[in-house]
Amino acid sequence: MPTLLFINACVRGRDSRTLALAEHLLACIKEVNSHDMAFQIEEIRLSTENLLPLNYERLLRREELLTAGQLGDSMFDYANAVAQADMLVIAAPYWDMSFPASLKIFFEMASVDGITFTYAEDSTPVGLSVAEDMYYVTTSGGYIGDCNFGFEYASALCKLYGIQNTHFISAQGLDLDGADVQAILEEACNGEIQHY
Ligand SMILES: Cc1cc2nc3c(=O)[nH]c(=O)nc-3n(C[C@H](O)[C@H](O)[C@H](O)COP(=O)(O)O)c2cc1C
Repeated sequence: MPTLLFINACVRGRDSRTLALAEHLLACIKEVNSHDMAFQIEEIRLSTENLLPLNYERLLRREELLTAGQLGDSMFDYANAVAQADMLVIAAPYWDMSFPASLKIFFEMASVDGITFTYAEDSTPVGLSVAEDMYYVTTSGGYIGDCNFGFEYASALCKLYGIQNTHFISAQGLDLDGADVQAILEEACNGEIQHY
């Protein structure tokens, strides 16, 4: 059964509007694929993971493992999960013009030369991930406009991994005075998500 990797970078538990939007997308994906190709959803909930940025010691350990070809070590769990998934859904609130720091650490751990990407003889990068599609779901207090750095960064990395089709789903302006949060969320669910 194909695997959908759900990378949940939402911070506010059940209060998260981003999580609600992402769950709607997941329900749509399940429904559309229920007949031919049902996905098994694997969630990585970053708020409960023990995420540490690479320091010098862990960087050296990582290099040792890679040199020894120990790609199955637990240090590479995120990279292997990303490489093997058939579809990626990332849910991350729009924080400080991008996303929470936990997602940056996740990407740091997932970006491994030899697992999610490699280099050809002419030094051009070659993606090693199976998935063709990544959906990036976010909600924001104001309007994102030209500062869509979270999605653009996630999208660029996914392309490095070989995931060519990246899609952006958002509900914006949720914290503006007088915003009808429910209506904005419903519009995102009925609009962008329906065309996923
Ligand atoms: C730490 C933090 C940083 C934020 N940064 C921004 C920002 O740069 N621009 C913006 O429009 N909203 C910003 N917001 C508002 C959130 O994007 C908005 O409330 C979003 O809907 C939160 O998603 P959630 O309900 O899934 O937690 C920020 C909120 C927090 C808590």
